Amino acid sequence: MIKHEAIEKNAFLLLVLSFFAVTIGGIVEIVPLFYLENTIERVVGMRPYTPLELAGRNVYIREGCYTCHSQMIRPFRDEVERYGPYSLAAESMYDHPFQWGSKRTGPDLARVGDRYSDSWHVEHLIDPRALVPESVMPPYSFLVRTSQRTDDIGEHLEANRMVGVPYSDDMIANAERDMRAQVDPDGEGVDGLLARYGDNVRIRDFDGNPDMLTEMDALVAYLQMLGTLVDFELYDADAPENLR
Ligand code: HEC
Repeated sequence: MIKHEAIEKNAFLLLVLSFFAVTIGGIVEIVPLFYLENTIERVVGMRPYTPLELAGRNVYIREGCYTCHSQMIRPFRDEVERYGPYSLAAESMYDHPFQWGSKRTGPDLARVGDRYSDSWHVEHLIDPRALVPESVMPPYSFLVRTSQRTDDIGEHLEANRMVGVPYSDDMIANAERDMRAQVDPDGEGVDGLLARYGDNVRIRDFDGNPDMLTEMDALVAYLQMLGTLVDFELYDADAPENLR
């Protein structure tokens, strides 16, 4: 007690000792980070977004959906029971910027994919209160009338490649074609799209209007993909290398 009083009364001594205490705490917290080989789990199924999904993601960001919706299920029991397996770092590795969010006026959307039908999403986005009377979500009905821009999508892929998403030259060259192919299941572009992005691509007309490629198509394609890519049958949370 007496000794502590001496420290408290001597500003210089207090400063020197606090400095040492903080330094030791800092070293303990920071040094182990330099020895981590990887902070992203090894998973099966994660792939770069298709051009249509990426366009939908751009609509999502432009409309500020992230101001009310998070995309990160935290590892707590209540969240896991409500939304499904907690989010992995690998699931947002192609997100630039990531959409974890910090506000939940509406529910988390990290695993909303395949939970509702396309027509549910379309109706809900046109008029949320038609389906959920107490909803405070704004309507986005203009999306069904707004045609999706396609000519610049290759540049969006390229910009993502600059920050580390592994889009190939082939993917960039065919971006516009692949975007149209995803809403045209009977078209000839389907094989190319599947060859470039794998089998877990949802190919169909998303907004119920096959005559026009709209921003609603893109947004619903994005929502239906969310949280569905990683194969949790093959993922082992306890194994250091993460694959069963
Ligand atoms: C002002 C806040 C707000 C904004 C902005 C907002 N939402 Fe919502 N959203 C909500 C609320 C509240 C709910 C829950 C009630 C409901 O289903 O309408 C919801 C529900 C949802 C659901 C259903 C989720 C589930 O699991 O039931 C989806 C999907 C959704 N929103 C997508 C979007 C998209 C896409 C955008 C942007 C175009 C958006 N929201 C913008 C507040 C918002």
